[in-house]
Amino acid sequence: MTSQKIRKAVFPAAGMGTRFLPATKATPKEMLALVDKPLIQYGVEEAVAAGCTEIIIVTGRGKSTMEDHFDRSPELEASLAAKGKTALLDVALSVSKLAKISYVRQPEPLGLGHAVLMAKELVGNEPFAVLLPDDIVDATVPCMKQMVEAFEQTGASILGSEVVEGDAIQNYGCLDCTPDPTNPRLLAVRHMVEKPKPAEAPSQNAIIGRYILTPRIFSLLEQITPGAGGELQLTDGIKALLEFEKVYGFSYEGKRHDAGDKLGFLMATVELGLKHKDLGPKFRTWLKDLPV
Ligand code: G1P
Repeated sequence: MTSQKIRKAVFPAAGMGTRFLPATKATPKEMLALVDKPLIQYGVEEAVAAGCTEIIIVTGRGKSTMEDHFDRSPELEASLAAKGKTALLDVALSVSKLAKISYVRQPEPLGLGHAVLMAKELVGNEPFAVLLPDDIVDATVPCMKQMVEAFEQTGASILGSEVVEGDAIQNYGCLDCTPDPTNPRLLAVRHMVEKPKPAEAPSQNAIIGRYILTPRIFSLLEQITPGAGGELQLTDGIKALLEFEKVYGFSYEGKRHDAGDKLGFLMATVELGLKHKDLGPKFRTWLKDLPV
């Protein structure tokens, strides 16, 4: 049991989004609208639902629309108020009130480990969450909330994990782990490897874009050298953390969509569109009549 709270959530959002070109040539991929909200808003809402009050977004060149999105927009608000469109005004205002949001730049795209390291000063000496905005997790209890509860039990770093099929493991961080006897969703991690060749993968347990990390990670991220793909990998920093502390995988309840991928984004659009309270019923009727 730990009494430490997870108050801060880091969102690495400096990547170039090359998997989604040409849509992401001039628009940050985090701002692509999934049904009616930009991708990053799903993650921020999940972090807030998990109890985080401070959001730290790691940005880079060309990402300023994210800052505008979470800021007040006096002209839009005045226009909606003047027209008596109070419901829409509430929608616009609620986005800017979600949390305290800070931004820090990653000057060069050197890798996910380097991106997280950029948040060192803003996080300070406390455990924190990391959410990768591409990974949208549709769950009854928000994924990060489930993980915060597991953190309260263990006080240790926790990595969201799911079992992936076959060669897909080569696209992920991979956990060598055993089930933990205290909690059926926890996996005690022995070792991990970033983007292994399928034949060399120690398991099919992939790391997904949800992490709770202890602050010792920062000094380790300062020491890592380029790994898979020539990048400074977060997985390599966490692997170094294993020498000092316990690290757990966590098989969350819910369905993950890789919305940074064109097909994954399309699938997420359909599934979340069907669940949307206003749009869902009409969308379902329309889909049923499609000649597929
Ligand atoms: C990153 C991490 C990887 C993790 C994945 C989850 O990879 O490096 O360990 O499995 O996110 O989405 P990326 O997708 O940025 O290549």
